[in-house]
Amino acid sequence: MPLARSLSVTSLSGLEEWDEEFDREDAVLFEIAWEVANKVGGIYTVIQTKARLTCEEWGENYFLVGPYMESSVRTQVELIEPCNATLRRTIDKMNSSGCKVYFGRWLIEGSPYVILLDVGFTAWSLDRWKSELWENCSIGVPWFDREANDAVLFGFLTAWLLGEFAAQCDEPPHIVAHFHEWLAGLGLVLCRQRQLPVATIFTTHATLLGRYLCAGNVDFYNKLAEFNVDKEAGDRQIYHRYCLERAAARCAHVFTTVSQITAIEAEHLLKRKPDIVTPNGLNVKKFSAMHEFQNLHAQSKARIQEFVRGHFYGHLDFNLDKTVFLFIAGRYEFSNKGADIFLEALARLNYLLRVNHSEVTIIAFFIMPARTNNFNVETLKGQAVRKQLWDTAQTVKERFGKKLYESLLVGQLPDVSKMLDKEDFTMMKRAIFATQRQCLPPICSHNMLEDSSDPILNCIRRIGLFNSAQDRVKVIFHPEFLSSTSPLLPMDYEEFVRGCHLGVFPSYYEPWGYTPAECTVMGIPSISTNLSGFGCFMEEHIADPSAYGIYILDRRYRGVDESCNQLTSFLFQFCQQSRRQRIIQRNRTERLSDLLDWRYLGRYYVSARHMALAKAFPDTFIYEPQEPTSATGFRYPRPASVPPSPAHSLHSSPHHSEAEDEEEPYDEDLEAEKDRVNIRQPFNLPNRNKNHTVGLPEKN
Ligand code: UDP
Ligand code: G6P
Ligand code: GLC
Repeated sequence: MPLARSLSVTSLSGLEEWDEEFDREDAVLFEIAWEVANKVGGIYTVIQTKARLTCEEWGENYFLVGPYMESSVRTQVELIEPCNATLRRTIDKMNSSGCKVYFGRWLIEGSPYVILLDVGFTAWSLDRWKSELWENCSIGVPWFDREANDAVLFGFLTAWLLGEFAAQCDEPPHIVAHFHEWLAGLGLVLCRQRQLPVATIFTTHATLLGRYLCAGNVDFYNKLAEFNVDKEAGDRQIYHRYCLERAAARCAHVFTTVSQITAIEAEHLLKRKPDIVTPNGLNVKKFSAMHEFQNLHAQSKARIQEFVRGHFYGHLDFNLDKTVFLFIAGRYEFSNKGADIFLEALARLNYLLRVNHSEVTIIAFFIMPARTNNFNVETLKGQAVRKQLWDTAQTVKERFGKKLYESLLVGQLPDVSKMLDKEDFTMMKRAIFATQRQCLPPICSHNMLEDSSDPILNCIRRIGLFNSAQDRVKVIFHPEFLSSTSPLLPMDYEEFVRGCHLGVFPSYYEPWGYTPAECTVMGIPSISTNLSGFGCFMEEHIADPSAYGIYILDRRYRGVDESCNQLTSFLFQFCQQSRRQRIIQRNRTERLSDLLDWRYLGRYYVSARHMALAKAFPDTFIYEPQEPTSATGFRYPRPASVPPSPAHSLHSSPHHSEAEDEEEPYDEDLEAEKDRVNIRQPFNLPNRNKNHTVGLPEKN
């Protein structure tokens, strides 16, 4: 028997120690999720952004396993022959037994290998597998729950794949299989039930019951310990799903959640305390020029402004240069995502801006996919009218230029009164007439299928934010994820975020919340809550988050109305910032990126795998948990200089007036330099950004 190898996640300083102690040649990592090469929500982002780091660590021994979705495969996956003989034998064996298993490279950073299982192709086995599930695990899945049926097929196929792979290995293998979320959980349960030689990890990104309970009108966090989980699941007709989820959590060698708040939830609802919290990271890209992300903001903002010009044609009575763009985005869970209190706060903000005679206009975008019948005519027309005005201006400009040129050619200064003729005026008048409009600019960009019962639209009807001229707050609801190929707003989500000023995510139920995290790494301030994994994580690691543009709303200890007032006051404060203050704040926000980088957060995954290996193969591996290092308690200090809020910056902010704000040439690198704090790189990350100084954090 080989000597037990000791695995540790000691200094959290990198993966080098692991490299020394563990020969990855004889271990294989499978990571299984329904969102592998299949975009639904945040789990896709976890897998996709983490791939590069995991590939660096596991190289040819890393395989992602997901469902085969033809449309995604066509655009995202290059199908190839299996990369090694064992896998080839495994896949051949399965394919010759009535499955359709594909192998390829997912065309994302890191180009990981993917194994895609066609669940539809094996649907003929569904009844047999369901009976087996009932006999062995006493879980009965009703015929009408399509998602649960998919989970059964996917689970049996994954267990088959892992079992077959183990059987095809020449030497007893060390397999680690990491399953994400309940939809993939059954594979794990079957691995344990069949006693496969696999170290299993289950990560839950939300609990089913938590999501359902919060979406109802339940005082979730105060009652966590009291719920009769079986009854609650039964009442909501998700008992079978709940059983699949709970079985996976209970059977796993290692159980993890994405945040501390979901760890507590899981302990109560799934009856297992997670072994480790694995927070979600991002693949942070640094630009060589520090202000590059600011330029990108300006470029993307200009494109959003163009869209707004079209959307509000005939009603462009506000100054676009003094318009602030806010947005909320994500899955359409009206109250879980906090769209309800965002709308309420917008109504209050509208009132405040009006009574204060503010010059600022707010445009709030809601990007949440709902069922639609495509774009509506009025919205498309807006962009067509804008284009027509642009074309008219170009034509008149050309005709003007030609006359000017001809007059200069004969050595004369032009007679300005004759530069535009009757035809030009007719053309321009026609274009202006086209901008007349009988209705207000539309709230919704699409024809909604459930217009009369849609929660966002109904709330807007109630609060009366109809994009009228006197409203300082305007609303645009885009019920579809953004895409660069859209004929309406041709921008992808990242570009759009960069062009906005503030992301608003006042979630009530949010195990992590990628949207504010993505804002942070792009240098865009955001509002999240102390009920979201992200918000709690930032609160833990930053001494004064709001100084960095990370506003954390209190939804834990305040009632809805109070939280709504707090949100209104955050928004009102934000509107009062000058351009310079916004620029400084964006610099600060962007500086937090390292905290959210997989290069640091990936180590929690490393740790979970070590723990699982040691539990599954105790004769070969020992896991040695280490004392927390100094890095564990790391906190970003308060920024040394100006707080960004005008309320606090009276004497300490750089002297400037609004006029100066608009006119003065402004060196952003210099400004960032002035504003810089001595920030130690968190957790001994390699110092990639030469603009960061390395020093000791201030004592708080
Ligand atoms: N997202 C997107 N396109 C959009 C809006 C959002 O791709 O137009 C993505 C966003 O980048 C984020 C994910 O949707 O990664 C939402 O993840 P989050 O964790 O915030 O919420 P979830 O939907 O998983 O609850
Ligand atoms: C970036 C650009 C500046 C621009 C500013 C606008 O910082 O580099 O050139 O003036 O964005 O900021 P605002 O917050 O008004 O969109
Ligand atoms: C879930 C959660 C979300 C989280 C994502 C990735 O969908 O709702 O908060 O960010 O998973 O972990």
